[in-house]
Amino acid sequence: MKKILVTGAVGQIGSELVEELRNKYGNENVVAVGHKTQPTEEMKKAGPFEFANVTDKMAMANLIAKYKIDTIYHMSSILSATGEKNPQLAFEVNISGLYNILELGREYKLERIIIPSSIAAFGLDTPKDNTPNETIMRPSTMYGISKVTGELLGNYYFQRFGLDVRGLRFPGIISYKTLPGGGTTDYSVEIFYEAIKHKKYTCFLREDTVLPMMYMPDCINSTIQLAEAPIDNLKHHCDFNVTAMSFSAGELASAIKKHIPGFEIDYKPDFRQNIADSWPKSLDDSAAREEWNWQPEYDLIAMVKDMIEKLSAKLKGCCY
Ligand code: SER
Repeated sequence: MKKILVTGAVGQIGSELVEELRNKYGNENVVAVGHKTQPTEEMKKAGPFEFANVTDKMAMANLIAKYKIDTIYHMSSILSATGEKNPQLAFEVNISGLYNILELGREYKLERIIIPSSIAAFGLDTPKDNTPNETIMRPSTMYGISKVTGELLGNYYFQRFGLDVRGLRFPGIISYKTLPGGGTTDYSVEIFYEAIKHKKYTCFLREDTVLPMMYMPDCINSTIQLAEAPIDNLKHHCDFNVTAMSFSAGELASAIKKHIPGFEIDYKPDFRQNIADSWPKSLDDSAAREEWNWQPEYDLIAMVKDMIEKLSAKLKGCCY
């Protein structure tokens, strides 16, 4: 029987991943671990929830022992924009925290660890269009540096200790349930809230900024699909490109305008523009497609339609 622990469980991806894993493996078999933010009542009621800091190795060890954990989805991370404001914190959480998880994986002989990477692992010298799986990795943010380090360490632990560590490089993730926090791709979520609430949004990236993106259902599917892929099919381990769509901020605004005709947008790029400019515009994810049959479901049009329907329903009845 699988006993799963999810770090970053209250975060944008973690909160939906916990829900899906609980549906799949049983509520009591998925331990959600948050840091400070309170989980929803729903998450707490459905199954085990604990507060712990991933930089506290002993606290994590205690949870692994208490729940007899065999699999970890390590989702906790300081994102790119917050990481640039506080690089020391990003190093602590993203590198020391990850190192703790890998060491605990080795010490407790865990069956599997999933560690997401990001398009932030690439840098200014990386080819921007259809970025290959294997290419120049020279990121310019602490977040990106922590993600390349995670990929390399994960691959090292697999080769050196036989620990089954897997990971994918997420593009920007769009969702309506839990807000992202401190990322450069966050505009692609904020824009929906503001379009629905105020029909107006000031974007912190330029209109022509193109980035690879993915809708949450595809993000969750890709994570679980990789986690469940037969190991013999995998040539890569911690460094799979995955993507579903690419669009500019202006193209996203136009797609939203089709549903909300009065929507207006203006652009005031801030420090996050430099971060976005160092990332790919689109990704080649053929390795993921070949090795574990990755295939996205949502493109821009389908994602925008679903986001507006679901988020409008969620916001209805709220005071704003
Ligand atoms: N969404 C992340 C960020 O913007 C990228 O992985 O920081």
